[in-house]
Amino acid sequence: MSILFKNIKSLVGIRNAGVKMLKGSELGTLPSVSDAWLYAEDGKIIEFGAMKDFNSEFVADNRDNSELEEIDCNGKFLLPCFCDSHTHLVFADWRQEEFAMKIQGMSYEEIAARGGGILNSARKLNETTEEVLLEKSLQRIEEIKSQGTGAVEIKSGYGLSYDGELKMLRVIQKLKSLSNIPIKATFLGAHAIPIEYKDKRNEYLQLLTEKILPKIAEEKLADYCDVFCEKGFFTPEETDQILQAGWKYGLKPKIHANQLSISGGVQAGVRNNAISVDHLESVGDEEIIALKNSSTIPTLLPSAAFFLRMNYPPARNMIEAGLPVTLASDYNPGSSPSGRMSFVISLACVQMKMSPEEAINATTLNGAAAMELSDDLGSITVGKKANLILTKPINSIANIPYSFGSDLIEKIFIGKN
Ligand code: NIG
Ligand code: FE
Repeated sequence: MSILFKNIKSLVGIRNAGVKMLKGSELGTLPSVSDAWLYAEDGKIIEFGAMKDFNSEFVADNRDNSELEEIDCNGKFLLPCFCDSHTHLVFADWRQEEFAMKIQGMSYEEIAARGGGILNSARKLNETTEEVLLEKSLQRIEEIKSQGTGAVEIKSGYGLSYDGELKMLRVIQKLKSLSNIPIKATFLGAHAIPIEYKDKRNEYLQLLTEKILPKIAEEKLADYCDVFCEKGFFTPEETDQILQAGWKYGLKPKIHANQLSISGGVQAGVRNNAISVDHLESVGDEEIIALKNSSTIPTLLPSAAFFLRMNYPPARNMIEAGLPVTLASDYNPGSSPSGRMSFVISLACVQMKMSPEEAINATTLNGAAAMELSDDLGSITVGKKANLILTKPINSIANIPYSFGSDLIEKIFIGKN
C-alpha cells in the first residue's frame, strides 16, 4: 500500500535520523515545511518536501505495484503520531465510585488506606478472566489510536499476585501481536503491598524478585521493570532491591517517582540507570541536578496531577536545566482515566507553561525515546514508520492545545508493525 499526501498545509516535526531526543531549548523548535507533500510505502516514510519541488515522476519511479491512495490535505497539518510512554491501560474496570470521594476532599493516600485505589483495581483484576481483560484492553488501544497515539507502553501492577501479574503481562503480550502499533511491556509488581502481605513486606519482595521475575524472563513477558517509589508504597531501598533484580533478568528500570512527596525516587532512578523517572510532581533543585548528571528521562504526567488536583511538575525549571522533558498520559482508572494525549498537551501548555512546540516534541520524539523507539518513530524522517496524524483544517499547531475540548484529528495512519 502506498500513500501520497499532497497540499499539506504544514508538515510538522521533521528531523534528521540522528536526532534521538530533544533536551532543554531544543524542545522549543518544531521544524516544519509549509505546503508540503509526503510519500509513504509499505508503512514507511519514503520521501517528503515542499509542493513547489514535487515531481510526480518521483512517485511513479519509486512505487512498487501496490495501489496508490492519494490524499489532498488542503488546510490540514500532518504530524507524527503521539508516543505515549506511560500507561496502565490493562485494567478490569473503572473506579468512578472513588471520584465522588475525591471531590469531597479525600486524598489519594486516604482512599488507598481504605482499600480503594490500586488494591481495589487488583481485587477486580484477579476476578477477571484473561479473555475479558484482553477484549477491554484492545478496545482501549483502539480508543487511544483514534485520539492520535501510535505507540504505547503498558504496565502490569494491578495483579499483585503471581497469577495476576503474569495474567496482565500475557494480555500485554497478546496486545503486541494483535495490535498494529508498537507496544512496550513493563512489570510493575511493586505497585502496592497487597493486604495479605501487609505485615510481611519482605515476603512480597521475595515473591516479586525470586518467583515472578524469573518467570517473566523465561517467557519474555516484559521490557522494563517499574516500582512505585513513594511513602506508604515502596522505599528507595526496596526500589534499589527490585530494580537490581530486574536488571539481573534484563529489564531496564522506568519508575514512578516523587508523585505524592519528595520520595527519593528520582535519585533511586538515576543511580539504577533508569530509562525514565515518571510523575515528578514533587521535585526540588536536588532532583533536577541529579537528572542533569544522568541519562534518565524525566516524564511528566499532567493529567494525573489534574485529576488528583496536585501541583504540576516544574517543567520550565527542567527545560531551563537542559533536561529532555517528556509527556505521557498515565492512562489508568485511579489517577488518569483518559489516554487523550491532546489533553496532556493542553495541560502542559496551560498549567506548566510549556509552548505548543515543546509539548508536541515531548509527546512525539521524546515519548518515543522514553520507550527506546526513536529510531523508528516520533518524527517525520525518511525510513521511519509512517504512523501519522492528519488534522482537520486548522490555522496553526497551537490550535491542538488551544481547542482543548475539540477533536481536531481527522484521521490517523498506522504503518505496519
Ligand atoms: O501512575 N501512582 C501510581 N500508579 C498510578 C495510579 C494507579 C491507580 O491509582 O490505580 C499512577 O498514578
Ligand atoms: Fe502511572
